[in-house]
Amino acid sequence: MENEFNVEEYKTAVGSFVTGIAVVTALSPDGPVGFTCQSFTSLSLDPPTILISVARTSRTFSTIALHKKFCVNILGAGSAHIAYDFAFMDPAIRFIAHSWNSTSAGNPVLEASMAWLDCELVRSIEVEDHLVVIGRVVSLGGSKEYKGPLTYFRGSFGGFVQLQDL
Ligand SMILES: Cc1cc2nc3c(=O)[nH]c(=O)nc-3n(C[C@H](O)[C@H](O)[C@H](O)COP(=O)(O)O)c2cc1C
Repeated sequence: MENEFNVEEYKTAVGSFVTGIAVVTALSPDGPVGFTCQSFTSLSLDPPTILISVARTSRTFSTIALHKKFCVNILGAGSAHIAYDFAFMDPAIRFIAHSWNSTSAGNPVLEASMAWLDCELVRSIEVEDHLVVIGRVVSLGGSKEYKGPLTYFRGSFGGFVQLQDL
């Protein structure tokens, strides 16, 4: 049965599903590019694949489509400012504001990443105003120093509280 809802009601409903936050990066001929992404999820284990949902308007995706590789940088608690900047800051200065290195595959990796996954583009599927982008994970790394993840819930950044064992 269908009911009527507006875009804000839709965002509140889907935003009730809490996610982590990643910055998806790639190397363009003009330098590193990247954007904040909450739609990351692991897809298969053998072989390991992941998926992200990317707006057709994404400038980063044009680089991913060209070079067929990208990196998923998963952010830890304390990196909400990075998530904000990679969503709203001028793309030309995102990597000036935040330190980065290169993975062996040649993708940019943020120094602040809690974990990162180097991916080869498997395929992208056009669905309405977005693309479902599937990547094969070819290498990974991260830091053991992080105590918890950065989370996103109904438009706000947060953390993670472990429940006591029942
Ligand atoms: C918390 C948060 C999550 C986001 N998740 C996504 C996402 O999953 N897919 C997407 O295409 N854009 C997402 N965005 C929007 C992009 O980060 C934003 O449009 C960015 O400027 C695109 O950069 P680009 O055009 O340089 O690739 C998200 C923004 C925020 C604040």
